[in-house]
Amino acid sequence: MALSKAIFIRNANQLVTLQGGAHAPLVKEAMSELGIIENGSVWIEDGVIQAVGTDEELLAMFEGRLDEAEVVDASGKLVTPGLVDPHTHLVFAGSRENEFNMRLQGATYMDIMNAGGGIHATTRATKAASNEELFHASYGRLNQFLRHGVTTVEAKSGYGMEWETERKQLEVAKRLNENHVIDVVSTFMGAHAVPKEYKENPDEFVRLLVEEMIPMVAELGLAEFNDVFCEHGVFTPEQSRVILEAGKRHGLIPKIHADEIEPYEGAELAAEVGAISADHLLKASEKGMRAMAEKGVVGVLLPGTAYFLMAESANGRKMIDLGVPVALSTDCNPGSSPTVSLPFIMNLGCLKMGMTPAEVITATTINAAHALNRGQEIGSLEVGKKGDVTIFNIENYMKLQYSYGVNHTDTVVKNGQVVVRGGHLVEELSLS
Ligand code: NIG
Ligand code: FE
Repeated sequence: MALSKAIFIRNANQLVTLQGGAHAPLVKEAMSELGIIENGSVWIEDGVIQAVGTDEELLAMFEGRLDEAEVVDASGKLVTPGLVDPHTHLVFAGSRENEFNMRLQGATYMDIMNAGGGIHATTRATKAASNEELFHASYGRLNQFLRHGVTTVEAKSGYGMEWETERKQLEVAKRLNENHVIDVVSTFMGAHAVPKEYKENPDEFVRLLVEEMIPMVAELGLAEFNDVFCEHGVFTPEQSRVILEAGKRHGLIPKIHADEIEPYEGAELAAEVGAISADHLLKASEKGMRAMAEKGVVGVLLPGTAYFLMAESANGRKMIDLGVPVALSTDCNPGSSPTVSLPFIMNLGCLKMGMTPAEVITATTINAAHALNRGQEIGSLEVGKKGDVTIFNIENYMKLQYSYGVNHTDTVVKNGQVVVRGGHLVEELSLS
């Protein structure tokens, strides 16, 4: 898209800036310091934030240039940085409502997976799908993310677990990043499950990941992060360590699906290998949480997954009190969290994890940006950052979590361009 005129967002009832967290994720009390400006305004030009302040201040600065800008009236509304979703399995084919039905009748997530369904079912569908089909399905999901105020989305591979399909997923993610206005950040997750043919010899699959797939992902520049499902019956902490260390040698930053179903010292491992984030953490130990706090590993919590698997959520309250920088995410995937609604996840963050509305805002903006190594570019409204802004049709940030199950997104500005207006995508985005 060509660069357009300047955008002047004016007079928000609350402009949530999150200023001051660009260099490190926010922890403890700082997670509640939202840097709110009342009657706040933002001037964006060339895709970048040029000024943030009260409407009076910005009017004084730009008085002579008002006719150059598209003015967006935010009076009575809440304005935040564009929301960031730091953990999704965006690129997949098919759908698993049949498993949802089975789980409602008593089957467990792991039972279904071990019987060849679950991740394996989505892997079959993703293998069978063409590049084009995957692109269109995922593009449609990105449109839905955008309608919910999200401007950056992480996307994992892992529905292939053999080179061709892993590569296909990562190439689709790359093409989405190039073609959709949302920034798509890629993670290689070949270690998502042990394929059936390696059940008797999982170390051989680990060898394949370490010696073949990880080096190829790095060489082709297909991902920034390397993730592993460290779980009883999937990858052991020892295997996970080997996989994550191999990624590091090839410049891929470690992430880890840790302590999701059973306690497995995943949080401890995240701290040990210097992971940028440890995700899920439903069953994380206090020792693991303390280790994460010490090393500044972001805890990416996914209360939608706990809700959907009918499990107890991670202890977000305790993690924040111990000094873990906490972020929140949808975990958007067809098995354990088929949603794109980060605002709904925010409500669960409050009601299921004891987080305050202010902490939840931090967890879906600046801390989520840090979980993607982008704390300096996005996640707060500060001069020099990307012009990514979401305007909600409500008066204040608490109402965003309070008034739940409703999409309050009114306007989304991405890279300094209005891409959602009045809750609807602007025309040229409506590809699917
Ligand atoms: O984050 N835990 C592993 N991976 C996903 C679920 C993927 C799926 O079920 O398709 C998760 O929960
Ligand atoms: Fe996940």
